[in-house]
Amino acid sequence: MLDLSTFFLGRPLAAPLMNASGVWCNVTNQLNALAKSEAGAMVTKSCTLVRRDGNPEPRYHTLSMGSINSMGLPNEGHLYYLDYAQQHDYENKPLFFSVAGLTLDDNLTMVAQIQDAYTPAMVEINLSCPNVPGKAQIGYDFEALDVILAEISSAYARPFGVKLPPYFDIAHFDEVAEILNRYDKVAFVTCINSIGNGLMIDINSETVLIKPKQGFGGIGGEYVLPTALANVNAFYRRCPEKSIIGCGGVSTGEHVFMHLLAGASIVQVGTALYEEGVDIFARLKIELARIMQQKGYQKIEEYQGKLKTI
Ligand code: FUM
Repeated sequence: MLDLSTFFLGRPLAAPLMNASGVWCNVTNQLNALAKSEAGAMVTKSCTLVRRDGNPEPRYHTLSMGSINSMGLPNEGHLYYLDYAQQHDYENKPLFFSVAGLTLDDNLTMVAQIQDAYTPAMVEINLSCPNVPGKAQIGYDFEALDVILAEISSAYARPFGVKLPPYFDIAHFDEVAEILNRYDKVAFVTCINSIGNGLMIDINSETVLIKPKQGFGGIGGEYVLPTALANVNAFYRRCPEKSIIGCGGVSTGEHVFMHLLAGASIVQVGTALYEEGVDIFARLKIELARIMQQKGYQKIEEYQGKLKTI
C-alpha cells in the first residue's frame, strides 16, 4: 500500500480519513470501534451542556443517493465526551471534540471545561446543526458568527475549528471567509454539514419520511458531493492560513481524492459510514491508494489542494 500518512496541524495521521460527527460516535463502544478502525482521526458526537434525547423517531431515512436526517443533537452531554477524551489514546489517532451549545454561554462553559481538563483533543465548534426546532444555524447569521468566534477566541486559549453549513453564493463565501480570517485561533474549517431542511416524500403513502419538523431534515450522501467540494475549495482558496476538513458525499476512494484535490487535509465520512460501518475506512484506503498508484503519486502532499482550473 502507498503511503497515505499525512499531518494535520502538526499531528501525524496514518490516513486522511475520519468519521463525520454524528456518525458512529455517540457512545463509548462506537468511539472505541472508531479508535480500532483504519480511520486516521475521529470526532465525537456534537455535544450540548447536558444530555439530550434528540428528536422523535423516525428521524433518519436512507434515500437512493444519500440520506435525510433530523436527529436533533441526541448526545450524552459534554462531560461524557470529556471523560472519553481524557481516556483516549492520542498516540493511536487524534481526537476532535465537537461542541454544539444551544447558546453562546453553553459553548463558553463547555470550552472552559475542556480547557481545564488539559485534553489534547482538538475542539470543533458546530455552527451548523439544522435540526434543533426553533434554533437557527449560526453559520447563516454572519453577525452571530462573528460574535461567537470573538467570544470563543478570548475564552479558549488553544486553536480550534468550526463546522460550517454549506453556502451557495460567492458573496457568502467571501463574507464568511473574511469573518473567519479575523480570528487566528480558528485553525481549521470543516465544510460541510448536511444541506439543511430538505424534504423527501413516499409517494405510495403520500407522507414525509421522517417525523421531526414535518419531515424536513438535513440531506447527506451523494446528493451533496458537488456542494461539499465547492465549499471545501472556496474556503481553501480564501483561508490560506487555515486547514480545511472536507465532509460530504464521500463513499469511494475517488470522492476522497476529489476532496483532497479541492483542498481538504482530512476527509470525513458520514452517510456511507452509517450505512457500511467502520470497515469502510479500510476500503477507502485501498481505493485511494489505487487511484494514487494509477496517477503516479507517492504521497498526498503531491496533489492535495492542487485542483486545476480551465
Ligand atoms: O441533528 C443532529 O444531531 C445533527 C447535527 C448536525 O448536523 O450537526
